[in-house]
Amino acid sequence: MALGFYDEAQAAIHDERFGDLARDGADALIAALRATGITEGTVVELGCGSGISAMRLLAAGYGVVGCDLSPAMVELAGRRAPDAELHVASAYDLALPYCVGVLAVGEVLNYRADGRAGLEGITDLAARVHDALLRDGVFLFDVSTPGRNGPDPVERQHEGPGWLLDCRITEDAATRTLVREIVIQLDAQPDRAVLERHELTLYDEDEVRDVLSDAGFDDVRIRTRYGDDVTFSTPPHGMLVVEARRR
Ligand SMILES: C[S@@+](CC[C@H](N)C(=O)[O-])C[C@H]1O[C@@H](n2cnc3c(N)ncnc32)[C@H](O)[C@@H]1O
Repeated sequence: MALGFYDEAQAAIHDERFGDLARDGADALIAALRATGITEGTVVELGCGSGISAMRLLAAGYGVVGCDLSPAMVELAGRRAPDAELHVASAYDLALPYCVGVLAVGEVLNYRADGRAGLEGITDLAARVHDALLRDGVFLFDVSTPGRNGPDPVERQHEGPGWLLDCRITEDAATRTLVREIVIQLDAQPDRAVLERHELTLYDEDEVRDVLSDAGFDDVRIRTRYGDDVTFSTPPHGMLVVEARRR
């Protein structure tokens, strides 16, 4: 059976249960832009998911251009943020307009779903982001690092109305690979399981700094939280939040 990648069921579950990073990423970007008086302009969202952050950015007065590889995600995002310009497209293909901010949260840069992902790919992408950003513009993203899962496989189960999701997570330290094998059971389709496989490359902090430096960013702040305010959730273990500003 073909393995999906944020197909309909996974997209809906992500939207229902795992929206914290999108919310926090958007709020952190808005705060970073307002800190230098940027209160309007276009924000590009790479891996926009179900539109949780797009909606917040629009409400804060920014225009949004977003893309996601998953048609199911873009469909949800279109419903939640109808004023955003959304594309079913890879971050590695999206033509970046001049913009005040670029957001990529929820490990978008770690995913290997596009074969161009990897250190070289994200360096090229970061260079395109740098060139698209207007002065004082901000590239804000999160990234998972080695040790995100640890050497032993982890099994997790999540449950919601009408669905059950089992996830087996393995990390291979030698290849810096994290794999999530996901099985979703839907009450509406009792005879069929939905299978997804997500493969990610893990980057350490020094690599991220080198990527950004090679891309032209020399004002980089790396933290373990989106913001210090109590309203921000704590990102999962092994995740860094990166704020790179174009000067
Ligand atoms: C964990 S979800 C995060 C979605 C959203 N940013 C959020 O935080 O709710 C990761 C998203 O990245 C998307 N994605 C992964 N690789 C991508 C790529 N190369 N281009 C565009 N989207 C990508 C997936 O389709 C998925 O929607």
